[in-house]
Amino acid sequence: MHQVKFLWVGLLVLLSLFIASELFAQADVIEKRQKFMKANGADAKAVKKAAEEKNYATVEAKAKDLMGNSEKIPGLFPQGSTAGKTKAKAEIWDKWDDFTKGASKLGKAAGGLAGAAAAKDDAKVEAGIKAVSGACGDCHKPFRAEKYSE
Ligand code: HEC
Repeated sequence: MHQVKFLWVGLLVLLSLFIASELFAQADVIEKRQKFMKANGADAKAVKKAAEEKNYATVEAKAKDLMGNSEKIPGLFPQGSTAGKTKAKAEIWDKWDDFTKGASKLGKAAGGLAGAAAAKDDAKVEAGIKAVSGACGDCHKPFRAEKYSE
């Protein structure tokens, strides 16, 4: 009888260790993607500043960064990674196709902007910047909460 009890206690300890490590792993995932998103914010800001200065090379480089980043977005949102201080809404996984489309939309907009900067076309650069920030907002609106979950 005692042995069975020990077995149960042992299993419970293992289970709680497992849950704790899962939560830590999720916190890492969330922290990583928020840092990544902050870098997107910095890139978007740098693009605007560079465009004002007509620094086309920087606009092009940062737009290409954003293009590469857009491809990484889906991988930063593993199924159900909502345990922790996050603004990610559950809708991300309910409407996964829309979410990944939002990421490709950013990629396309950033690609267009890079092309416009390479051609030193002011009007297209301006339109490209609008398209990029529009793509950020189009995903944030349905999929990012106003407040952190904790
Ligand atoms: C496909 C969807 C999607 C796209 C596109 C997207 N984001 Fe986000 N972004 C999110 C989600 C979801 C969060 C919330 C993440 C979390 O809190 O776990 C977020 C969070 C952020 C944050 C807050 C990070 C923090 O520390 O809380 C910033 C800043 C941000 N995004 C900037 C951008 C910018 C700038 C762009 C465009 C260049 C962009 N995002 C494009 C989905 C997206």
